[in-house]
Amino acid sequence: MPCTRSGLAFCRELRHLRSMDEFWPYRVLFVCLGNICRSPMAEATFRALVAAEGLSQRIRTDSAATGPWHVGKPPDGRAQSEMRRRGRDMSDLRARQVRRQDFDRFDLILAMDMDNLDDLWRMAGAEYRDKVRLFLDFAEQPGTKEVPDPYYGGADGFAHALDLIEQASEGLLAHIRKEAGLA
Ligand code: 4NP
Repeated sequence: MPCTRSGLAFCRELRHLRSMDEFWPYRVLFVCLGNICRSPMAEATFRALVAAEGLSQRIRTDSAATGPWHVGKPPDGRAQSEMRRRGRDMSDLRARQVRRQDFDRFDLILAMDMDNLDDLWRMAGAEYRDKVRLFLDFAEQPGTKEVPDPYYGGADGFAHALDLIEQASEGLLAHIRKEAGLA
């Protein structure tokens, strides 16, 4: 680092970091078809868990869609209602599509269903394939491999999807703690 004004500021900043993990947080991306139902519920549920554990500086979350239709929109009202019923707010989230750079930037990219997984594997190519997994791989006893798409159904579908998401979030956090060496 050359001895410039910005270089000095950068070094001063570094001294305040307790470990390099804080400088390079672990990054997780949740992905579904539209990024308005399942993946924002997963992102907001997991980020609430991470915050409750005091790990928000160490684990960063985001979500994205494989499809383009809802880019820029907030989460579906039914998803927001079910989340609010369980004490979580996700009104700040906006849909975006998966980008090529995501495969480099994120440590783990989690698909809600097999179609998402296939689409992501196709985009990832061999280099990034191992980063892409099914979200429910991390649930202890999900009884299914996929978070079912609730978009065309009723409120029950959102509640069921969220039950699965909550289970998988616990397992995911345990996995990341081990992988990233977080206490
Ligand atoms: P999501 O649900 O993938 O969980 O966000 C869907 C949202 C929108 C559509 C399909 C699924 N759609 O066809 O517009």
